Amino acid sequence: MTEPSTPSGSTGPSVMGWREATPADDDRIVSLCEALNREDPGPDPVNAQQILRTLATLRAQPTRGRTVVLDTSRGLASGYAFLIAFWSNELGGEVCVIDELFIEPAARGRGHGTRLVEGVRSGALFGKIPVAVELEVRPANTRALSLYHRLGFRPIETMRLRLTGSVDSRGSTPTSS
Ligand SMILES: CC(C)(COP(=O)(O)OP(=O)(O)OC[C@H]1O[C@@H](n2cnc3c(N)ncnc32)[C@H](O)[C@@H]1OP(=O)(O)O)[C@@H](O)C(=O)NCCC(=O)NCCS
Repeated sequence: MTEPSTPSGSTGPSVMGWREATPADDDRIVSLCEALNREDPGPDPVNAQQILRTLATLRAQPTRGRTVVLDTSRGLASGYAFLIAFWSNELGGEVCVIDELFIEPAARGRGHGTRLVEGVRSGALFGKIPVAVELEVRPANTRALSLYHRLGFRPIETMRLRLTGSVDSRGSTPTSS
């Protein structure tokens, strides 16, 4: 499952087509991320600058996580994922949050999504073996949901809440961003 060769600039082993992204992948990842947001839009639209900032931040601060790309032909990437590190006191170690996962339609159904998750679990793609792997999926995304169930993911019985904006100078009222 693990291949020893990596393209120049990429560190760590690749896992059947998945490898760590390099700066040369940035423009392609922006396109793939935009395609994901067209196909499966989230509540907050993303723009190219935001995506490039994420890529730069993960490169500069690798303890935050890493970006991986699906590169089956050693050419243009046909998929990407952000693997975000989160230290859990409850679970006693580092959780890998697969923050975004997208594979081009033509490359789907060939096991790449499955291998991405397996590569994360084994530590080959995340750089360490995580205590757990987490991801978010919209209930309407039934195909992805059935894949995740098959891989062993189960819902966490808690609510995820979000507070956006900043606290103003009086230290109390959040302002929307
Ligand atoms: C979900 C996704 C990452 C799965 O990747 P993949 O490489 O096709 O996954 P695999 O080949 O390992 O597994 C295919 C399974 O996923 C399911 N699947 C989910 N979405 C699918 C899609 N859009 N096209 C084809 N298969 C899909 C298939 O039903 C298949 O199940 P089966 O093996 O029981 O027949 C990919 O389809 C994708 O990028 N979808 C669009 C973006 C998305 O929904 N991302 C997830 C957000 S949480």
